[in-house]
Amino acid sequence: MSEQAGSGGDEAARPFLYVVVCAAGVAEGVGGLIDAARGRGWEVGVIATPVAMGGFFDAADAEARTGRPVRSAWRTPGDPRPFPAPDAVVVAPATFNTINKWAAGLADTLAVATLCEAYGLGVPVAVLPCVADALAAHPAYRESLARLRGMGVRFGDPYAGNSGGAEEDGGRPGFGWERALDLLERR
Ligand SMILES: Cc1cc2nc3c(=O)[nH]c(=O)nc-3n(C[C@H](O)[C@H](O)[C@H](O)COP(=O)(O)O)c2cc1C
Repeated sequence: MSEQAGSGGDEAARPFLYVVVCAAGVAEGVGGLIDAARGRGWEVGVIATPVAMGGFFDAADAEARTGRPVRSAWRTPGDPRPFPAPDAVVVAPATFNTINKWAAGLADTLAVATLCEAYGLGVPVAVLPCVADALAAHPAYRESLARLRGMGVRFGDPYAGNSGGAEEDGGRPGFGWERALDLLERR
């Protein structure tokens, strides 16, 4: 039974999904991913970068949807682990910064350290990058993607095939959050 047991339901029987949230503008929509993941049978714990915690998404809303605290900082030595070990990890949205640090093995935030560790744990990791073309052209980013792909990380394009969004959203195509869950289900 997980250390989080006691919040009711059959959560201990469900696989545990870490949702890593980075500081991109679309992060405000992560509640939809949480609900979709829970609808597909995952128990969810959110781990956000420190920058993402600075107003990029509604952490209280994420806590209400998951029934668990949003993690961003390391626990104090001696404290129990707040989340069970992951069965899978989703990074959405994934920023240029976090992708490059992860590929380089720089574990300076709980979020990136968690991603670095996922490789050794051997759990599936799905990523939806949210990176502007001007940044994506940087050679370091291309090398990071190649390195992470070589580690078995699954990348999806959250905008591929999406039509334009609402006018109040500038007509931009929507962020395909559920693509991350589809990637995890791929054999
Ligand atoms: C409003 C706003 C939106 C941003 N959107 C993005 C984005 O879509 N992708 C990205 O890579 N960085 C974006 N950034 C920059 C990141 O927040 C910045 O690089 C930050 O250091 C990323 O930290 P993290 O990777 O630890 O979350 C945005 C910044 C602001 C202020």
